[in-house]
Amino acid sequence: MKEFGACPTPFYFYDMKLLDLTLDAIIKEKGDFHVHYALKANSNPEIVSHIAARGFGADCVSGGEIQRALDCGVPANKIVFAGVGKTDAEINLALRVGIGCFNVESAEEMQVISALAVKAGTVARIAIRVNPNIDAHTHANITTGLAENKFGINFEMLPATVNLAHSLPGVELTGLHFHIGSQILDNEPFERLCHVINRLQTQVRVNHINVGGGLGIDYVAPDEHPIPDFGSYFDVFRRNLNLMPGQTLHFELGRSIVAQCGSLISRVVYVKHGTAKNFLICDAGMSELIRPALYQARHKIENLSEPADAPIEKYDVVGPVCESSDVFGTDELLPVSCRGDLIAFRSAGAYGETMASNYNLRHLETPFYLEK
Ligand code: LLP
Repeated sequence: MKEFGACPTPFYFYDMKLLDLTLDAIIKEKGDFHVHYALKANSNPEIVSHIAARGFGADCVSGGEIQRALDCGVPANKIVFAGVGKTDAEINLALRVGIGCFNVESAEEMQVISALAVKAGTVARIAIRVNPNIDAHTHANITTGLAENKFGINFEMLPATVNLAHSLPGVELTGLHFHIGSQILDNEPFERLCHVINRLQTQVRVNHINVGGGLGIDYVAPDEHPIPDFGSYFDVFRRNLNLMPGQTLHFELGRSIVAQCGSLISRVVYVKHGTAKNFLICDAGMSELIRPALYQARHKIENLSEPADAPIEKYDVVGPVCESSDVFGTDELLPVSCRGDLIAFRSAGAYGETMASNYNLRHLETPFYLEK
């Protein structure tokens, strides 16, 4: 990592070489599978352009993300559009530019897409998002494939929804879409997903299967595992999924592509000594990286300024925001730290910058720095 001495903080740091190596690994392992990068993980134009230049498609969940993907060079026909609340304006944008596929989440939405497509004199390619009711054993807030989630259509409603698709003039049913959750570290839920899909394949004939995203990363030891094991991940699908002749397989990976290449860099504003605890108060907080406050997520914390052999102290590492949940870590063992030291919150390339907010109005935009 470059010397940041004089840079104003906080900012996101992106290691573009690591991003490239990650993309190399995916390209090597994916074979003829199609990967659509999930922009919600990181929609920074530099990142999206870089990924688009390597031939990836895009998975978008809003008109804004579709526009960003197009602006960054993703061809419209490689864009898929998901989300339970697509507005008329977003659907019209997607129809106008000719995206590859709408991932449809309800019968109501399908009817609206069909009506708007007819009005525009076109036919929308759609995939029905099926809720596979699989427990991905991930954090409750980021599991999506269970029956009680708002996402997708249940098995019982699938036949009627397929019939509806065949009856509507403005849509063409081309695929089935699934997504079981995020930060999944064990391949077993993906294997179960394959078996569910194999069963459904006997009922519904489509041109493509989209299995969503969800592959997890190592937040504990990012330097030991900078690149996820894409080989065994894709192999699960290769071994367990029975694709029909001519059928294509699509993925929507977000976190596993960008998480490890990003760090949030912050500075210690004060070292506060309490009666029972020591606090490192940083100039980054939940407004730059909300994952710890929202999901009790742990991002590895490093002091970049002190020597590795410095004496160790126990700190609660906190942000400046007026919320008691603005905490990055409790009882963290770090080198004895000083005002002005640089602190890195690692593995923050996914769902970091995209989830930043203006809360407390400390700065209007989170700056970033690219190392090429
Ligand atoms: N496809 C769909 C339909 C999704 O809902 C998601 C993520 C993805 C693909 C990409 O999943 P990934 O490969 O990144 O796991 N903010 C949370 C994560 C929310 C994930 C939402 N959906 C976090 O910071 O952990």
